[in-house]
This record gives sequence, structure tokens and C-alpha cells, in this order.
Amino acid sequence: MITDLQPLLIEAKSTIREAMAQLNTASSGCLLLVDGNGALRRMITDGDLRRAVIAGHALDADLTVLEPVEPTVARRGLDEDGARRIMRERQVVHLPVLDETGRPVGLYHLGRMSAPILLSAPHMGETEQALVAEAFATNWIAPVGPHVDAFERELAETVEASEAVALSSGTAAIHLALRLLGVRRGDRVYCSSLTFVASANPILYEGAEPVFIDSEPESWNMSPAALERALEADRRAGRKPAAVIVVNIYGQSADMAPILDLCDAHDVPVIEDAAESLGARYRNRASGTLGRLGVYSFNGNKIITTSGGGALIGGDREMMAEARRLATQARDPASHYQHSTIGFNYRLSNVLAGIGRGQLKALDDRVARRRAIFERYRQGLGDLPGVGWMPEPEWSRSNRWLSVITLDPDRTDRHPYAIMRLLRQRNIETRPVWKPMHLQPLFRGADYFTHSERQSVSDRLFLTGLCLPSGTGMTDDEQGRVIDALTEAVAI
Ligand SMILES: Cc1ncc(COP(=O)(O)O)c(C=O)c1O
Repeated sequence: MITDLQPLLIEAKSTIREAMAQLNTASSGCLLLVDGNGALRRMITDGDLRRAVIAGHALDADLTVLEPVEPTVARRGLDEDGARRIMRERQVVHLPVLDETGRPVGLYHLGRMSAPILLSAPHMGETEQALVAEAFATNWIAPVGPHVDAFERELAETVEASEAVALSSGTAAIHLALRLLGVRRGDRVYCSSLTFVASANPILYEGAEPVFIDSEPESWNMSPAALERALEADRRAGRKPAAVIVVNIYGQSADMAPILDLCDAHDVPVIEDAAESLGARYRNRASGTLGRLGVYSFNGNKIITTSGGGALIGGDREMMAEARRLATQARDPASHYQHSTIGFNYRLSNVLAGIGRGQLKALDDRVARRRAIFERYRQGLGDLPGVGWMPEPEWSRSNRWLSVITLDPDRTDRHPYAIMRLLRQRNIETRPVWKPMHLQPLFRGADYFTHSERQSVSDRLFLTGLCLPSGTGMTDDEQGRVIDALTEAVAI
């Protein structure tokens, strides 16, 4: 329901021309004609104004020339399903909601009520198109070029890292990171269990053995306690992992200090999968820059996107040069085509790097907007029974890539899937929290270390969590629709 009605209100003393101008800027497709007391007299659409002009009224005539029409209205308190029913029966696309004195307090607009609201749609800014056009104009339509070089430089500057290598995906970046760290067939590689499968798939590409580590409840990311037990168990067995992939889910850093201390003590390199956490911070450092190597994703659903793309971040110049070589089919320095090692076609196109440069300029705004979206959800839904929130420890500044709630089964009998289904009927996309990797058929039999002897935190989060629409292109009205739908879904 639209509740900011000020831009839609108009009085009879206004002219047809003024009404046309006001309608032109109002996105609702109608105006609300009110009397001196603010009570609704009628609705005005484009068609009403057009018919008045065709009937011979001048553009400077006031709105008293419009025929009185009894509008279809609803009383305050009507929910969205009720509004849909009335609109269907009366065949109207607008339904004003009035208070007891006849003043409009809301407006249901069928078009708005049914437009899809996605979880995290791409949000293009003002400069991307110009940068893509530049790539076309200069014919740099290749996986090399000035935008790639500039994007790498600008990304490294943004996160205060010494170097970035732009790649075709975040998955490619994780794969290269494993290669660069010398992971081989049969090696054990630890990985956060609560993540998207792309974090762990590259372990299998290399024929290595994944070992999954549970989350801790404060950040939902890798539990240092579980990591410690895994490292100890391996030490007792006379072995150690070749690498640890720490994932920063939903835009929040893991508690990197104890994780890095443990990995240093056992001499194990850390890859930080920051695919979802670009723009977030761990204490005073940019998320993604704390491990030996860091990974970002610019997939279409991420906080900034190149439609598809990723980057590897690191401080070791030789390693970064090797990453570039491996990503371009590992060509030896010879004038003919010569290859001594396996290479990959993993470089980002210059056209897409142009999009990335434009997107990067908006990163701070995007983080601020995602955080504001989270806060509005928390204020709008905070009183609902059993609804909890993804926490943000004092050492974290999350980018709130996705706003995630949990539903406490002791306090509500609403299951996330039931809510997901109800919201789907309203054309609102929500998603369950990642299904942990130790529960995936793909990784059946893999070792798994829980946060405590009796508690698997990632299992609980999977069963109770729900990700809400969080895209920065979502309007306030649309978020209001999500809040209303969730309130109804949780309250039924
Ligand atoms: C945690 C995590 N890791 C890795 C990836 C892989 O990134 P990409 O889709 O760019 O390959 C993603 C996202 O897709 C992700 O969410």
C-alpha cells in the first residue's frame, strides 16, 4: 500500500494543466482530489483529464469541470488480500483507503501490488553505460584492455590491497587461489560449511578432500572453536590441511583474528571468500584483505556486479603475476604458443570491467542503502513473535548484502518455507539460508566439525533462516509491501 500520499493529493482549484504536470511525476497513475478538509472527492486519471480537454475545457480550467464520480474506496484496516478481492470485483486498479473522516490514508495500486520484487537484482548506476560505450568505441572487446587494468587498480585502492586480478567469476578466483597455494590431489582443504556451493566446488576440481567447519552464532561464519578442533584432530593424525577457505556470508566478515592466529600457529594459508562481503569491514580492514588471498564476486546478484565476474586479491606480487598467467591459458614467454603447465580461460572481459568501474564508484552508497534496508526491516518487523536477525558483532561492519531473519520454532509455528510460499503468491522472492555443505549429497562422507560437541549452528540456521529482498534498486514502497506481506504471513 502506498502511504506517502502527499504527491498525489490535489484540490479542485488546481487547473487541468497543473493536474497533468502532477500526474506526470506521480508514479501511481492517479491523483486524489480532496476538499478543503482533506476528504476524498474523486480519483483523477490521465483519461479523465484527456476527456475533459476533448470535451472543450481549456488547460487552464480548474478541476471543478470534472464530473463528480463516486470512487470505490476501502476503510482503514483492510489487508492486501482484501484489497485484491475488492479490486477484482469492482474491476478497478486503484483503491484508496480512507480514515473515519473520509481522508485518504493509503492507496492500493494493482500494478505495484503485483510487480515482482526480487531478492537482489542488479542496480546499474549512471556511468556504466558510458564506460561500456568507450570499450566499444575503442574496440577493446577482449579479456584485456584499459578498463581491466583500471578496474584492477581501482578495486585494489578501494579495499586498500596491494593488487587485484580481475577474473571471469568468483569461482574462478577460488580455483586459482587453490592452485597458487599448491593444493594437490588428496590434500585436505577446510571450508566453511554454511555457504554457497561455489566456495567448495573448486576443492573438488583439484581432486582435494573438503573438510567442513561449522559456524559460530555471533557472525554465522566459521567457528574458531570448530576450526581449532579440526586442526588438532589433523595434528594428532600427523597431517594438516593445505588451505582453509573462510567464507564471509551475507556480507559479514568472519571473526578473522582468532582464525588467522590458529592458521598461523599450524602454518596453514587462509583464502578469504569475500564473494558476498565487498564493502564490509573487519575491525579497521576491508573484508577480503585479511587472508593470504581474497576473493570477490561480481555476479548479477552481488552488491556490485559486472553481470558475471570476480577478482583475486593478494599482497604477493609474484603470486598475482602467476594468477594472471594461469588465467590466460598459462602461456610461456616464447614468441610461439608454448605451454608447460595447465592454464585456464579465466580473465574478465574489458567490456565487463567497464561496468565494474562504474559500479565501484557507487559501492559506498550501495553499502549504506543495504544497511538502511536492513534497519527498516528490523524496525518494521522487530515486534513479530519469534523473529530474530542476523547479528552484527562489535568488530564487524556488514554490508548487509542480504537481510536475513530467523524464525524461532519455540516462539512461532511459522516455518520459513511456509512464509516463502505465501510471499511467492504476492510475487515477492525470498530464499532459505544456504543449505550447509556437510548436508549436501555432493559432499556425502566429508568430515565436519561442529561449533560445540552438541551444537551444529549451521544446521539450525539452515532450518530457521530466511533471506529477504535486499536489492538497492528496491523502492521504499516495495519494501513496505514486503514488510506488510511478512507481517501477515508471520501473524496468521
Ligand atoms: C560465498 C560465495 N562464494 C563464491 C561465489 C561464486 O562467485 P561467482 O558466482 O562469481 O562464481 C558466490 C556467489 O555466487 C558466493 O556467494
